Amino acid sequence: MNATNRKVMLSAVQPSNTLTLGNLLGAIRNWVKHQDDYECWFFAVNLHAITVRQDPTELREQTYRAVATYIAAGINPEHATLFVQSQVPEHAELAWLLNCYSYMGELGRMTQFKDKSQKAGENIAVGLFTYPVLMAADILLYDTDLVPVGADQKQHIELTRDIAIRMNNLYGEDLFRVPQPMIAQVGAKIMSLQDPTAKMSKSDPDPNASVYLTDTDDVIRKKLKRAITDSGNEITDDDSKPGVKNLLSIQSAITGKPISGIVASYAGKMYGHLKVDTAELVVQAIAPLRDEANRLYEERTFLDQVLRKGADRARERAGKTLARCYDRIGLLK
Ligand code: TYM
Repeated sequence: MNATNRKVMLSAVQPSNTLTLGNLLGAIRNWVKHQDDYECWFFAVNLHAITVRQDPTELREQTYRAVATYIAAGINPEHATLFVQSQVPEHAELAWLLNCYSYMGELGRMTQFKDKSQKAGENIAVGLFTYPVLMAADILLYDTDLVPVGADQKQHIELTRDIAIRMNNLYGEDLFRVPQPMIAQVGAKIMSLQDPTAKMSKSDPDPNASVYLTDTDDVIRKKLKRAITDSGNEITDDDSKPGVKNLLSIQSAITGKPISGIVASYAGKMYGHLKVDTAELVVQAIAPLRDEANRLYEERTFLDQVLRKGADRARERAGKTLARCYDRIGLLK
């Protein structure tokens, strides 16, 4: 157990573009919901973001914006440790060690790698391939028990567990704590508004596919109005109607109401009603967060203070895990 004797919860978002409604409903809202029950570590993974090309100014700004968004969403920086991955060099250092205990075959099976490498064309960065190993380092450095994420990250956490167990077998059961994913029942996979068979993604080139956490109320309403629904007019959560099902899931994730109840409330109504109501719920969920994030984003002195304090705490904890690994493996420190 750690100093506070509480279980450890850890999670992160890539500041690779403006965060989306998917990031909020699949991840950040669950961090906020559970933050009082755990010792929490939340960060922005900018080293992961450079596995695809980033504009340096944009990357720096998006990193601040991500941290401002965490706080605006309700993460208490006095309680949770907030930091930026590049400010804690132990992440990159442990990732190298883990690379030597990870196999080409298992990394090649990662769906996210398969998807992203297809989009990357001919020159696929090695970092894209070893991306999950850096993620394993992120998690294992802090003796993490639980990782609250969306459904798309489950495979990466399973890989983290495999690497941890493999190394524990070699170097002692107390080398790494083996983490568990924490995936919410609803909201774990919000789909694109333009192609409801694909995940809503920050990196989608079509801005109408995602609701960004910076969108104005009007833009949110327009995007939901244009959301692709399906043929027919009956509102059900049937898999044959992925567009309608997505809007119902969004409503359920925001309100906490079960999908069956929401479906029942639309008996005899049209898709248009569903879209308008969903838009209003999304506006209510995003507007206060967006306005507060915009304000905090300008408060650089405050954000830098939070991050400096967070990085100091993170380095202290991560340094202990790293020292343990060096020692067990037989590396001079
Ligand atoms: P990233 O930046 O793609 O997404 C951040 C979080 O948001 C969730 N998410 C979604 N949830 C529901 N619906 C969606 N459409 C949707 N899109 C994204 C993701 O599941 C994630 O929880 N590899 C990670 C970042 C990472 C990390 C870590 C996470 C690096 N190290 C350590 C946890 C622990 C990623 O790319 O997330």
